[in-house]
Amino acid sequence: MSWGMNNRLARIIKPKTGKTVMLAVDHGYFMGPTTGLERLNEMVDPLLPHADVLMPTRGALRQYIPPKTDVPIVLRVSGGTSILNENLLHEGITVSMEEAIRLNVAGVAFSIMVGAKFERDTLLGFTQVIDDAERYGIPVIAVTAIGKDMVRDARYMALASRIAAELGARIVKTYYVEGFEKVVESCPVPIVIAGGKKIPEADALKMAHNAIQAGAVGVDMGRNIFQSEDPVAMIQAVKAVVHEDATPKEAYELFTNLKAKKE
Ligand code: R5P
Repeated sequence: MSWGMNNRLARIIKPKTGKTVMLAVDHGYFMGPTTGLERLNEMVDPLLPHADVLMPTRGALRQYIPPKTDVPIVLRVSGGTSILNENLLHEGITVSMEEAIRLNVAGVAFSIMVGAKFERDTLLGFTQVIDDAERYGIPVIAVTAIGKDMVRDARYMALASRIAAELGARIVKTYYVEGFEKVVESCPVPIVIAGGKKIPEADALKMAHNAIQAGAVGVDMGRNIFQSEDPVAMIQAVKAVVHEDATPKEAYELFTNLKAKKE
């Protein structure tokens, strides 16, 4: 692996703990003005000091994030369909590698859809991005999704994650499911979990904790942070779970204490 690739990976997965808290704010590329991100900069500014990595789209990065920001960027480089389209996640390449380099990214993220009629398109777009990115030592993070008729369980998440790694992903992002050890064990590259739809803070912290215990290297979490009753308190609680092995109870107490201080 080249020095550049290793260095970028070390900016994403912190060498001190071997873990990462990525803050995902890329939802607008298919969901439009997502609740909490209407004025993306106002939400993200106070969260940035607590995030290891920020995951935006190119437009959001240009318009909302000041270039002086020193948080590493993992740029969303796939898209092409919206939530209004029945073939959601039939995605292709939306950003060239030249542009990603110009934006000084630490990595790029591409969604693959395993088990959909159009899976081949997304997998081939994904490998094209990997070929382009590897040329410059840029890691590609696979965002895995499975067909809508498939159950989100360990068998299918392991299948999608392993395919992503076999095709060349340096990091795989997937959903936490029961039996997550099976997903981690059969995937030869580090795994982070997405948060998914907003759930109560205590449950989201438990999910992050279970994922870390099962071997995930961190989270790439969006809505469960920025739609929280207190996003700044929540990201710090997530960080305690990921980097300090806090139990769900300790992390939830941290969340409520930090939240109470502001009230
Ligand atoms: C989905 O494809 C996007 O990459 C989201 O950023 C990702 O799912 C993480 O966000 P959330 O934790 O809100 O699911």
